[in-house]
Amino acid sequence: MRSPIPDYLTDALRSVAADTSGATADYIPELAQADPDRLAAALCTVDGHVYSAGDADVEFSIQSISKPFVYALALADRGFDEVLSKVWVEPSGDSFNQISLEPESGRPRNPMINAGALVATSLSGPPGAGADQRFERIVDGLSAFAGRRLEVDEAVYESELHHAYRNRALANMLRAHDIIAEDPLVAVAGYTRQCSLLVTTDDLAVMAATLANRGVNPVTGRPVVSAPVVRQVLSVMSTCGMYDGAGDWMTRVGVPAKSGVSGGLIGALPGQAGIATFSPRLDRHGNSVRGVDLFQRFTADMGMHLM
Ligand code: DON
Repeated sequence: MRSPIPDYLTDALRSVAADTSGATADYIPELAQADPDRLAAALCTVDGHVYSAGDADVEFSIQSISKPFVYALALADRGFDEVLSKVWVEPSGDSFNQISLEPESGRPRNPMINAGALVATSLSGPPGAGADQRFERIVDGLSAFAGRRLEVDEAVYESELHHAYRNRALANMLRAHDIIAEDPLVAVAGYTRQCSLLVTTDDLAVMAATLANRGVNPVTGRPVVSAPVVRQVLSVMSTCGMYDGAGDWMTRVGVPAKSGVSGGLIGALPGQAGIATFSPRLDRHGNSVRGVDLFQRFTADMGMHLM
């Protein structure tokens, strides 16, 4: 029997299509030029079925949605103690690009804001790994989450790197506090490259479903990270994934989630499914306007709220 899910997703997209509020991110010139009307939704169940509607096979840069996955790799590669000593797990209550470091230690408050994500990037791969080896690990790891080889969008990478003044400032602060050991510019380049990896909405649903499926990619059947790592990542996504909109999100939508400035949004429902949406216009927190609306609708219709 044909599944009703694709029709449901198509209806859901139709219900938000007229909303043109919000704006594409303009601090990364290449993103400002994105087609703002793109719209997609995808769902991947933990038994590996992928359903989607709209522009679900259109590629866009992953941006901050890379953060939970790279955090997972850092935890897997360096262990909890080392990672937690360098990046903590409390919501900052600030926007994603604020300094938000603990006053004495200089440790970023969590790995979902840019400061903490720079640290997670620097902790991926084996101890002593150079920038190239670390990036290989990140591409391999995120590709394993997606179930296909991901590539960098070089134009987005160059465009962001040349305007990454805030991230350079953050990396310099982290270096001054000995939270990262490397040249701050190298740290920013690695993090920016990770944000420039191209994904589709279908990919993001599979990546989220891998988290929902205790770290095993439900489409390829391949284990990517351990269940304790997934528990840590989903917990941090619940409290910090939507930045200074995280509390509002958790009460209204109620699933661990992560947004990105290119307009992607993922949610992972443990034991059930990964869900992803794509719509480039953003609200004041840097979260996709129509993506947030779609997730509110999914929660209302499918009872997704964890509580
Ligand atoms: O570092 C940045 O500013 C971007 N590469 C990523 C920010 C982002 O996606 C924030 N999310 N909504």
